[in-house]
Amino acid sequence: MTNFDLVPNRRNSSNSIKWALYPKDVLPMWVADMDFPAPKPILNALHKAVDHGVMGYEMPSKALKETVAARMDSLYGWKVKPEAVVAVTGIVSGFSVAARAFCTPKKGVLLQTPVYSEFHEVKTNVGIPQLDAPFIKHVNGNILNYEIDWDIFEKQARKAGMFLLCNPHNPLGIIFSRKELLKMAEICIRNNVLMVSDEIHSELLLDDNKFIPMAKLSPEIAKHTITLIAPSKTFNVPGLFCGFAIIPDGELREQYEKEVGHSRMHVASLGLIAAQAAFSGKCDGWLREVSRYLAGNRDFLVEYVTEYMPDVRTTIPDATYLGWLDFTQTGIKDSPFEFFLKKGKVAFSDGKIFGKDGEGHIRLNFGTSRKLLEQGLERMRKALRSI
Ligand SMILES: Cc1ncc(COP(=O)(O)O)c(C=O)c1O
Repeated sequence: MTNFDLVPNRRNSSNSIKWALYPKDVLPMWVADMDFPAPKPILNALHKAVDHGVMGYEMPSKALKETVAARMDSLYGWKVKPEAVVAVTGIVSGFSVAARAFCTPKKGVLLQTPVYSEFHEVKTNVGIPQLDAPFIKHVNGNILNYEIDWDIFEKQARKAGMFLLCNPHNPLGIIFSRKELLKMAEICIRNNVLMVSDEIHSELLLDDNKFIPMAKLSPEIAKHTITLIAPSKTFNVPGLFCGFAIIPDGELREQYEKEVGHSRMHVASLGLIAAQAAFSGKCDGWLREVSRYLAGNRDFLVEYVTEYMPDVRTTIPDATYLGWLDFTQTGIKDSPFEFFLKKGKVAFSDGKIFGKDGEGHIRLNFGTSRKLLEQGLERMRKALRSI
């Protein structure tokens, strides 16, 4: 059994973006990595590679592609051919490459907002229009729920070359249902829109929630979909920069691989080694434990907010370690991000980087020990009392 209550000190012992960006008196609860060490089988595989001593160029092996394909089969019964698996240096580079290959200045990228900040960077990095399909927000007591606005989705799809789906959704923690995915796919295929499904959080499921990959739904949908997965969020190895694009359609894959080649995206050998161990099944016990711990943190967060900060609204995420909090009813004048940084000495992710509809909100990373989560919430509560 792993004791997730004990987290290593990351402030003094690394150049962690999360822990080093803000002054020492600020508790960081922002960028999406967890404070837990990676599972032992990954660490052992990395130790072995380091002990060997030669760090030469490596390529993704046939065995690794087979391991990725086998994982899709064992998790979802999704039959993927190993040759459909393309290694990429990460998911952000993976979807940026897709946008470069498949969008044009006339056919932009469709996003469901609020959504992961890097999705919003594609338009400027690639030079294409961004088409937003904001969710409809519902408030029930202090609980937030978000629903797809199908009219806007369809209207924007008509102008898009690519739909960048985030499933499970960052920052909202939604796992889309079969029915929703089928409807998105139907609209995209009818409008000749390529689907790029960012499924980086797909194994971080809380409670007994189930996940369905978009491309698993039908061979026709798989033909129009690029699926992006990685061990990085699930097993907490994001600094090793290794992910995979799964592209069943040969022609689509060829175009994508060409763009990957142009971008000179070579995955570091240690990333490939970690991915092999991560997807081998040897880390699944750890994954069950961490998911249980994260579900406990999610419950703690929701109960704390409901009991001590009733004016604050929160999602109840079904996946990820990300909470989404709404402060628009609290009397905070400016951005809650600035407010909590100054008054509470706690750093969240500013809601506005997830889209205009994220103003007045913050994203809270609860991938940490219960004790640090409680400290962060206490700092928030104390700051709110000062209004
Ligand atoms: C939805 C989503 N996609 C991609 C990433 C980052 O992926 P990578 O570090 O592999 O580029 C994140 C990180 O938070 C994320 O939440």
